[in-house]
Amino acid sequence: MTTPNSTIRSVVLGIGSYLPEKIVTNDDLAKIVDTSDEWIRERSGIHQRHIAADGELTSDLALHAAKRALADAGIDAQEIDLIVLATSTPDNTFPATATKVQAALGINHGAAFDVQAVCSGFVFAMTTADALIKCGQAQKALVIGAETFSRILDWKDRATCVLFGDGAGAVVLGAEQGQGTNDDRGILASKLRSDGRHYDKLFVDGGVSSTQTVGYLRMQGPEVFKHAVKNISSVVLETLEIADMPISQVNWFVPHQANKRILDGAAKKLKLTPEQVVVTVDKHGNTSAASVPLALDVAVKDGRIKKDDVVLLEAMGGGFTWGAVLLRW
Ligand code: UT7
Repeated sequence: MTTPNSTIRSVVLGIGSYLPEKIVTNDDLAKIVDTSDEWIRERSGIHQRHIAADGELTSDLALHAAKRALADAGIDAQEIDLIVLATSTPDNTFPATATKVQAALGINHGAAFDVQAVCSGFVFAMTTADALIKCGQAQKALVIGAETFSRILDWKDRATCVLFGDGAGAVVLGAEQGQGTNDDRGILASKLRSDGRHYDKLFVDGGVSSTQTVGYLRMQGPEVFKHAVKNISSVVLETLEIADMPISQVNWFVPHQANKRILDGAAKKLKLTPEQVVVTVDKHGNTSAASVPLALDVAVKDGRIKKDDVVLLEAMGGGFTWGAVLLRW
């Protein structure tokens, strides 16, 4: 399908990720809240998660991931003229964590800003960077998802503290000339959605303007679960429709890693085989905006995702927000 400006494609030139050293197992958590390894595995598919060290900030995780993505792309940081960083756990309320990463990379040209769409953040950031590349504002962009959710967890609330982890992932996107067809490499289509009527189903009970505190994550888990599979499958189908591509042409499904049961449900509804689904929730937990690029990096580095494969990214999170990105690797 040909769309306006579709000849400029945002192609992934490199990918990298970073996980904090400390691993916390389900058994470790069973020592601090009334839970069990069995419950967490059965209900969420999570076996362990990584937790940032004291003093290790979201910007530190982001910087590690960004450097690895730049090394993988084989380009110098000076070539980057846009940084879009997705996070709900910034170092400070402002400035944007992206500007800290920009300075740490020695870049003082172009633009850097944060995107806040909670767990959908990376999908929103990719779509934003793609739009800026397509309209000629940027040539090479770093798109990062980085989170320290451990800092906003109520470690006394067993319903939430067992589900999340810390980490970061990044890709380098570069502007390349395409033919305007689905044979092009790069982002082929994306679709972003939100519905603020669900604001209080997954939120942080503090904030600058409301309480002047940071607050803790609160979630009506079963309510979020109920919407997840439906929203994910509908936005994936909308994205495929924009590209006019049948799902049979998709090689890899890289979903937001919130719950193995949600991934299985969405894959089944979309008629994707379990082998096509990249699953890292067992090892990473839910790392919010970092989860998609972390999973993507695993599947690229272990050789599953290869050049020219069609990859479908999706996520859903607080707001609610949700979205999908279809790309040819
Ligand atoms: O990333 C953003 C998107 N987030 C998500 O997609 C998360 C969506 N929600 C979920 O993944 C699931 O709803 C959860 C994993 C959060 C919970 O699974 P569930 O099957 O929906 O369980 P539930 O909340 O209905 O709780 C079932 C029982 C309750 O006990 P009763 O009322 O049946 O006696 C809970 O109190 O499990 C209890 N429970 C726990 N038990 C042991 C809740 N948390 C725990 C726990 N350990 N950690």
